[in-house]
Amino acid sequence: MYAYKNMTTFAIESLASRFGFSPWIIASWWEIFQFKNEEEAAGFFSKKENQELINAQPFVKWVGGKRQLITQFKDLFPNPQSFNNYFEPFLGGGAVYFNLQKKKSYLSDMNAELINTYQVIKNDHKKLIKYLKNIEHSKEKYLEIRAWDRVTGWQEQYTDIERAARFIYLNRTCFNWLHRVNSRGEFNVPMWAYKNPDYVQEENITNVSKLLNATEAEIQVESFEHVLDKAEKWDFIYFDPPYDVLTDTANFTSYNKDDFGRDMQTRLAEVFRTLDARGCKVMLSNHNTPFIRELYDGFRFEIVQARRAINSNATGRGEVEEIVVLNY
Ligand SMILES: C[S@@+](CC[C@H](N)C(=O)[O-])C[C@H]1O[C@@H](n2cnc3c(N)ncnc32)[C@H](O)[C@@H]1O
Repeated sequence: MYAYKNMTTFAIESLASRFGFSPWIIASWWEIFQFKNEEEAAGFFSKKENQELINAQPFVKWVGGKRQLITQFKDLFPNPQSFNNYFEPFLGGGAVYFNLQKKKSYLSDMNAELINTYQVIKNDHKKLIKYLKNIEHSKEKYLEIRAWDRVTGWQEQYTDIERAARFIYLNRTCFNWLHRVNSRGEFNVPMWAYKNPDYVQEENITNVSKLLNATEAEIQVESFEHVLDKAEKWDFIYFDPPYDVLTDTANFTSYNKDDFGRDMQTRLAEVFRTLDARGCKVMLSNHNTPFIRELYDGFRFEIVQARRAINSNATGRGEVEEIVVLNY
């Protein structure tokens, strides 16, 4: 499906390259031209609507977060005029969503506490900020709030606002802003003695709320496969799954620490191919491993360099290559 989609595209590109234009530039002009002429495009996003960018930033630091890679990623996103809705099914800190600011956005992740926090920020950010302001930070307070999840069914005992405040407060005051839970699902990162940690983030949370509403964000706890229920031709999907393991052994079947093993990576590649066949634009990032290259054989690959700060395993420190797979 990708690149030379039909003979007309091929003819235009051959002609263009004879006059010294890059085939990729021509391909992207042609895509925009086609998009603008399709019936589906009527009434959808126009660049004018998106000119006023909202100064909102990721409000949690997330393992595998793409904030540091945004500059390298920018050139790889499709032109905002050439797609309709945006989907980010492995949301985490949402660095790409914050950069694209696309109306309309579908945001999802399997982490229920994370998603609850986005939902509360969208619908009730003032009460959330008030609650956060009332927390008097201390080691005792940290341990008290961290211990909420030691009780079975704890989510039902607290309001959504209380749970969202807990999520942000712990994230901004814990060691390395790391989100980690044990096998019982209990948050177990120790506190870190930051000087004046800003766990309220009043201005940013207010702007994030503005952005979630402006982009009409639909925010759900769900697994990535559900993107197939909603994504249509001309939509753009960015996949940022938990990383494939770096060490490669023959017949590798074990799970990585996020329980997102190679069977899940394979399932994801099937979803990627289904969306491609549907006429969606799809982008995915992962470790640059032979397994991932094989899974996405036939698509366009770009390599970016990522810095790795959080990893207990020495092989994961320093610079790591990430592969970006694109179907456009
Ligand atoms: C690499 S992180 C995403 C980082 C994010 N792009 C950012 O910039 O912060 C991967 C995310 O996938 C989520 N996840 C794990 N398994 C999932 C699944 N089956 N479906 C959807 N999300 C999943 C995790 O909760 C985590 O937030």
